Amino acid sequence: MTCIRSEIIGHGHYQPAKVLTNNDMAKIVETSDEWITERTGIKSRHIAAEGELTSDLAMHAAEMALKTAGISAEELDLIVVGTVTPDNTFPAVATKIAAKLGCRHGIPAFDLSAACSGFVYSLTMADNMLRLGQAKTALVIGAETLSRVTDWTDRNTCVLFGDGAGAVVIRAYEGKGDTTDRGVLSTKIFSDGAQYDNLYCKGGVSSTQTAGFTFMNGKEVFKSAIGCLTQAAETVAEQAGIKVTDIDWLLPHQANIRIIEGVGKKLELPESKVIVTIDHQANTSAASIPLALSECLESGKIKKGDLIIFNSMGAGFTWGGALVRI
Ligand code: ACO
Repeated sequence: MTCIRSEIIGHGHYQPAKVLTNNDMAKIVETSDEWITERTGIKSRHIAAEGELTSDLAMHAAEMALKTAGISAEELDLIVVGTVTPDNTFPAVATKIAAKLGCRHGIPAFDLSAACSGFVYSLTMADNMLRLGQAKTALVIGAETLSRVTDWTDRNTCVLFGDGAGAVVIRAYEGKGDTTDRGVLSTKIFSDGAQYDNLYCKGGVSSTQTAGFTFMNGKEVFKSAIGCLTQAAETVAEQAGIKVTDIDWLLPHQANIRIIEGVGKKLELPESKVIVTIDHQANTSAASIPLALSECLESGKIKKGDLIIFNSMGAGFTWGGALVRI
């Protein structure tokens, strides 16, 4: 039976110019390249310049996504931005992007707060709206300036994060309704608020009237991450009626190489099918999946027709997955 699918027709990404290597981090806190590389897989991270906002990063990614899609901003009828580091407490980064891009007056634009799962959640929302006929062409962005909520004296967290943005343009078309269709084939999102205190920003508008700094119980996050990411991948595959091992690529949230490798093993995927970009991106939260995707599409590593699972997990806890044919 035919059905509406959301096809990825454009992609974009951006990382700020400033790079901090692990050796640079060792000048800020007591750490070493060896410790960070071995425990996390991270070698360097990009940090937004003074005055460079999340919306600035998002705009670069959005402009590239429109260009690769070959469409103008006037063709967009929805913008969703996954972020936990908006320019202002309100309004949404998405409305600023709509105005800056020159979108049609009145199109819906909103931010979605799901931390590291922000892109998978945003893609899920946009895909559902396209399938309901509420929009035909949508811009979905993940953009973060996590450096702004990083405690640069806390070696447990400051070595982990980076700034960046990634974006996709998705467009509705009528597919055959089977897994040979291109576009989003299956999505599933989850949450568990009982884990709220294990990973959160210690601060906020209603609690401290400040943005606060990232706090993480690394061991607890680590314990849950592999199970959540595995569940997300298995669920989207099962919903679509395929085996996880049939995919061309797993693109997991880039949080920690040991988590990524653990998930790959649990899913019985060879290392060659698991995308790793954490070495030069660090953890960019909602930006991590679209950033890595766009890099791999640009380099030709991921090709048209490839079957891919995105899976992510983050604060909340939130987690989720999407099965997509590029
Ligand atoms: N450099 C040097 N030593 C450090 C550093 C550092 N940057 N950070 C911590 N240490 C020390 C600790 O103080 C501790 O020393 P101690 O034994 O004297 O107390 C020692 O290293 C070991 O610390 P652990 O916390 O046991 O280290 P672990 O092997 O668990 O690694 C890490 C820590 C990398 C945070 C790990 O717990 C982890 O990967 N957790 C998952 C969390 C994650 O990836 N979060 C990303 C954000 S959430 C998300 O995106 C899903």
